[in-house]
Amino acid sequence: MGFTFLILMATLATTFASQTPNQIHLLMPHSGSGGLKHPDLNCNSWRLAVETSNLKDWTLVPDECADYVGHYMLGKQYRADCDFVANEAYKYAKSLNLTGDGKDIWIFDIDETTLSNLPYYARNSVAFGALPYNSTAFDLWVAEAAGVAIPGSLKLYNQLIELGFKIVFLTGTKQAVSEPRIRNMKNIGYTKWEKFILKGTNDHGTAVQYKSGKRKELEEAGYRIRGNMGDQWSDLIGTNTGDRTFKVPDPMYYIG
Ligand SMILES: *[C@@H]1O[C@H](CO)[C@@H](O)[C@H](O)[C@H]1NC(C)=O
Ligand SMILES: *[C@@H]1O[C@H](CO)[C@@H](O)[C@H](O)[C@H]1NC(C)=O
Ligand SMILES: [Mg+2]
Repeated sequence: MGFTFLILMATLATTFASQTPNQIHLLMPHSGSGGLKHPDLNCNSWRLAVETSNLKDWTLVPDECADYVGHYMLGKQYRADCDFVANEAYKYAKSLNLTGDGKDIWIFDIDETTLSNLPYYARNSVAFGALPYNSTAFDLWVAEAAGVAIPGSLKLYNQLIELGFKIVFLTGTKQAVSEPRIRNMKNIGYTKWEKFILKGTNDHGTAVQYKSGKRKELEEAGYRIRGNMGDQWSDLIGTNTGDRTFKVPDPMYYIG
């Protein structure tokens, strides 16, 4: 694994430096398949299964697909996929007739939906989700407030505001780190919102339960959830899911 990643990082550095078009592509096959559990695993099929939620409750990107996921995330395809979702969302949003009473809301998740943690996931110790999650390291990363905007989502955010939607950020991020998180969001262009809901110490249950509960509260307060966008299916299923949901890609981790 370590050696594989040295090669991957060297390749990525070269790719960034030369700015060459970088569609999803596999590295040259590694010599031998020692240590790989499923050397014939088709990573493209794996990623499709993840995005469609045919594959559930997975914990790590398979070793076999770590390089593939790295190339996908840092290459043009990930950006194109995100842009495609955002464009479809905008077409839908534009078609709606808003009442103008300020109650039409659009819910955005944060991590890997509006803010990308890619600088963190590209680290050797994280390996695009192929190595076990380290909450200490991730919390330190959040404190850095160095996440980057997902361009398509930021554009959509601005378009929605222009159309008259109110924005609600609903995140599983803990209330305890709200300061660096909110600072990070403002720095990358998400400067206003109707509500910014973080997970408090009294919020229990699974992600689906937590997010459903918060959406229910919003509807009970008179808001109409016209759109709901997230990178995890747990952002988009459960109850009070909104009129329409939009899934942005995330092959790096699964939150149930
Ligand atoms: C919005 O209003 C226009 C004009 O009244 C109407 O033609 C259109 O069908 C409405 N769209 C929706 C989605 O209700
Ligand atoms: C998790 O991250 C912390 C902070 O970077 C590091 O000190 C620790 O060794 C890591 N734990 C594991 C199991 O890798
Ligand atoms: Mg997320």
